Amino acid sequence: MKLENERIPDQFKIDVMTVNDIPGVQVIERYSFPTPWSMRAFVSEITENDCAHYLVMRRGRQVVGYVGMWLIIDEGHITNIAVHPAWRRRGIGTRLLNAIAAHAYRLGARRMTLEVRRSNHQAQALYHKLGYTVAGVRPRYYLDNGEDALIMWKELNSDDCQAISDIGNRDELR
Ligand SMILES: CC(C)(COP(=O)(O)OP(=O)(O)OC[C@H]1O[C@@H](n2cnc3c(N)ncnc32)[C@H](O)[C@@H]1OP(=O)(O)O)[C@@H](O)C(=O)NCCC(=O)NCCS
Repeated sequence: MKLENERIPDQFKIDVMTVNDIPGVQVIERYSFPTPWSMRAFVSEITENDCAHYLVMRRGRQVVGYVGMWLIIDEGHITNIAVHPAWRRRGIGTRLLNAIAAHAYRLGARRMTLEVRRSNHQAQALYHKLGYTVAGVRPRYYLDNGEDALIMWKELNSDDCQAISDIGNRDELR
């Protein structure tokens, strides 16, 4: 049920992504990206890649958004973030990005980075709002249409740790 102009209610919880979440994640992937990741890619990320960290926002058992990150020494590299179209503009993307940044900080990251399509103004607006700034361009980075990627960075500080309480099952975090 879509509630217009309503922010997200409390029953929405952020948690570590499990294999059971992947079908729901893939639904959102297909709505959100021209070349969605396969089931196998997500399974590999969450079961085999030691530097990968994935969070979901669930409403009950339904996945409404997710975010992924690779922790590389003291940098958190966002791999993907998406929110189900029915639940956008309620603050879910903001909560997911804050939660993964807080998690990254706790694990030793001191800056976050990501790539975003030059034409993706809605995602850029989200990143700007959270303090990410453009630091460079990767020309023709996206293979499907040859679009440039903007490279964005954000320095982390201890305030970012406040968001860690947002994650429901903290003990499961690596
Ligand atoms: C980008 C995305 C994750 C944002 O998720 P979201 O839950 O809607 O984001 P939020 O509600 O937290 O929005 C936070 C702020 O981002 C900006 N923003 C988000 N969507 C926007 C839009 N469509 N147009 C303009 N600004 C937007 C606004 O500043 C917004 O604050 P406001 O609602 O108070 O104005 C979502 O639009 C999405 O899944 N897009 C498709 C996948 C994608 O492009 N991922 C990024 C790949 S780099």
